[in-house]
Amino acid sequence: MDKIIRIALDGPSGSGKSTIAKRLSNKLNILYLDTGAMYRATAIKALSLGIDTLDEQGVMTFINDIDLTVKYVDGAQRTILDGVDVSEKIREPHVSMAASNISSLKCVRLKMVEMQRKIAGETSCVLDGRDIGSYVLPNADYKFYITASVEVRADRRFKELTLKGHKVDFEELKKEIEQRDYNDKTRDFAPLTKAFDAIEIDTSFMTIEQVIGKVLSVIGE
Ligand code: DC
Repeated sequence: MDKIIRIALDGPSGSGKSTIAKRLSNKLNILYLDTGAMYRATAIKALSLGIDTLDEQGVMTFINDIDLTVKYVDGAQRTILDGVDVSEKIREPHVSMAASNISSLKCVRLKMVEMQRKIAGETSCVLDGRDIGSYVLPNADYKFYITASVEVRADRRFKELTLKGHKVDFEELKKEIEQRDYNDKTRDFAPLTKAFDAIEIDTSFMTIEQVIGKVLSVIGE
């Protein structure tokens, strides 16, 4: 049997992790697990129940029985909540901050990490998130910390949302990204951090091809 390989890509919002993870998983023909999608779906669940995404007691009432799965259609991850495909809904702008908030709760992280470790234990995969190399899979075969300046990240997000037809203000978007960085880096449990053995790549002035080239040169493909 071939050896299972696990690649961890961590970093702040908008650093390019998901684009890199998708391309990498295609190239290596292995699964891509977008762990942020799972936190986003959990936020949608809380919102649909009218539970504040920072209310730990409230979130505890549903988290252990959450009906959340990921499946793959033509190689692309679909996120399914209570039997409904929420893959598009989780990308709505208001869900980003709600996901950042709910991801600070320990009960949520414990549940998500359990699910992520199960998936990663069964098959080779690229996982992107905030705590993959530092907490979820400390023994991952390869770890990368993907980052970029806040201006560049806000600019990428602005273009992405505008293209989808959302009306967004650049300065507000930048402030929101800074707030999410702060939340993600300062939460008590499994915060966003560069694992000591992760390779850092600043993508601010790199093309996707250059980043992929760098990652592949490390992996030795
Ligand atoms: O990567 P993303 O923007 O889709 O993630 C949404 C939120 O989920 C993000 O603000 C932080 C949180 N998250 C996390 O805490 N840990 C992960 N492994 C992935 C995402």
